[in-house]
Amino acid sequence: MDIFEVINKRRSVRNYLPDEVDEKDLKIIVDAGKKAPKAGPFQITVVTNEELLRKINEFTIDGMKNSGNDLLVEKANTPECNPIYDAPLLILFSAPDENVFGGLTASAAAENVILAATGLGYGTCYLVSPTFAFQTSKKDELIKELQLPADFNPLIAVSIGKEGENKFGVPQEEINNVNYVK
Ligand SMILES: Cc1cc2nc3c(=O)[nH]c(=O)nc-3n(C[C@H](O)[C@H](O)[C@H](O)COP(=O)(O)O)c2cc1C
Repeated sequence: MDIFEVINKRRSVRNYLPDEVDEKDLKIIVDAGKKAPKAGPFQITVVTNEELLRKINEFTIDGMKNSGNDLLVEKANTPECNPIYDAPLLILFSAPDENVFGGLTASAAAENVILAATGLGYGTCYLVSPTFAFQTSKKDELIKELQLPADFNPLIAVSIGKEGENKFGVPQEEINNVNYVK
């Protein structure tokens, strides 16, 4: 797939098959994240451990419930709330708190990962919701299990896996949000 096909093909996937992501593909995907523009240190953490994925999902729901954001609270209180969508693999992008550009750096790496994974035929979703797990009392436990460098916090995540039946995709709207200044 050329780059424009990849860009046009990418959509948020919210239902995954349990199949593992191939090791060679994973290396290509992670390398793409490392090659993104960056401003300061950041960490890419690949999680495939099922128990840890389950915990991140569960504590994300707890964090959403306490977020103070009406939409997230409402979503978290539905029985079908499943913020990481049973993806077999989650990549977390973390940066130290003192790096004011940490979120932007993490985001650039996440998009590179998303495009690489899309090009290799995987479904992905850009996810801010798992960061709510780190605003709960389970934060230190999760940070320890993720083996993050000291003072690094997850700022964004990407779920990756083979796409299941597309249950939660929304049609892409054509929005007029470009202006040209000549
Ligand atoms: C900053 C940001 C945070 C997002 N967080 C989530 C999330 O937590 N969960 C989710 O399902 N989608 C999340 N998305 C994906 C958007 O919902 C999605 O990109 C948007 O609806 C457009 O749909 P598309 O990706 O299929 O084109 C996020 C996107 C962005 C840019």
